[in-house]
Amino acid sequence: MYDYVIVGAGLFGSVFARQMTDAGAKCLIIEKRNHIGGNCYSANLGGIHVHRYGPHIFHTNDDAVWQYVNRFARFSRFSYRPKVNFRGELYSFPINLNTLHQLWGVTTPQQAKERLEAERVKIEQPANLEQWALSQVGRELYETFVYGYTKKQWGREPSELPCSIIRRLPIRLTWNDDYFNDRYCGIPEGGYTKLFESMLQGIPVETEVDFLSDRCRFESMGKSIVYTGPLDRLFDYELGASDWRGLRFKHQLISQPDYQGVAAVNYTDAETPYTRCIEHKHFEPLECDHTVVTREYPADWSVGDEMYYPVNNDAGEALQKRYAAKLPKNYLIGGRLATYRYFDMHQVVASAMHMAKQQIRSVETIYPLRR
Ligand code: FDA
Repeated sequence: MYDYVIVGAGLFGSVFARQMTDAGAKCLIIEKRNHIGGNCYSANLGGIHVHRYGPHIFHTNDDAVWQYVNRFARFSRFSYRPKVNFRGELYSFPINLNTLHQLWGVTTPQQAKERLEAERVKIEQPANLEQWALSQVGRELYETFVYGYTKKQWGREPSELPCSIIRRLPIRLTWNDDYFNDRYCGIPEGGYTKLFESMLQGIPVETEVDFLSDRCRFESMGKSIVYTGPLDRLFDYELGASDWRGLRFKHQLISQPDYQGVAAVNYTDAETPYTRCIEHKHFEPLECDHTVVTREYPADWSVGDEMYYPVNNDAGEALQKRYAAKLPKNYLIGGRLATYRYFDMHQVVASAMHMAKQQIRSVETIYPLRR
């Protein structure tokens, strides 16, 4: 009998399993994919670590989280400085003084501030994402950086989307073009999969096994179930399916040492069907005569597809709550799928560490964990 049967070998399931195993609990992980690591998984393609489910940059301000992940891998220093390609013109991104200098010729923060003020469209109460963005940054920045990208990402006109989708449009009136402002930022040397291998050492993991294919048997094997998959699927969609946006990735091995000179180029026009082109070797600089690029295509989602971005509208939130209310008493849930939330990796690590801490406290009052 296991103390915990953990469904999903992604970041949440793996951190929780490591913490509970170290505290003396007996854990088993069930993973339906043929690999560990969930969406953080990296595949080795010709010596290059390819982020199979989209580019993953680990960034955090949390000392405990940073120290924790560094137990399992050495992180190389990495600053995320993507570029924007808008109809063939390349811009510095996120929007900063370099970008505004390129667009408007401004050279100081004060000049940029004044120009930005003049550009803003006066809209008292923005009713949708387009109006909100126009009121924040004006038409030129909106059309160059927001309109096409948002339309592709969400499959709808920004004028039909709620303001809440983009909570802020970061504009820096400095020359700093580093995307993340966090104290720590890096990429695990040797790829994310190696980090997960190290984290899961000594913990049994069954891959290519869907928990739901033999749910009763797996439930009978554990005192508690830690479920990191989607709740609607757990209940066979009996209340309906939650809505997601999908993504398709096209990976390409290219016989040249460097394709675009940077890890990421965002394509912000509406005509290019993909939103990003990722060149993986720039995450971990590697001298070799080939490279791998991945183009990321936003896609409509239907039941059975991989889930990427939750569509957190009122109906989706209400459905999630109704499913959560149906969970059996010995179920714990965590991670992006089960909570129907977008989380960055550091948030997932922190929440799994927190849940493990709570378990260790509460379980020790009922029966002492083996040590
Ligand atoms: P995750 O989905 O990784 O793991 C859940 C696992 O459960 C999966 O492996 C799944 O197969 C398995 N599972 C589900 N149902 C099952 C069942 N019935 N039986 C068995 N197994 C089952 N964050 C960040 O900090 N920096 C970044 O740069 C990025 N980049 C990024 C790009 C893109 C395109 C996206 C969509 C997301 C990011 N992220 C990110 C977020 C990051 O991907 C996310 O925080 C973690 O992958 C979440 O880990 P989880 O364990 O919650 O889910």
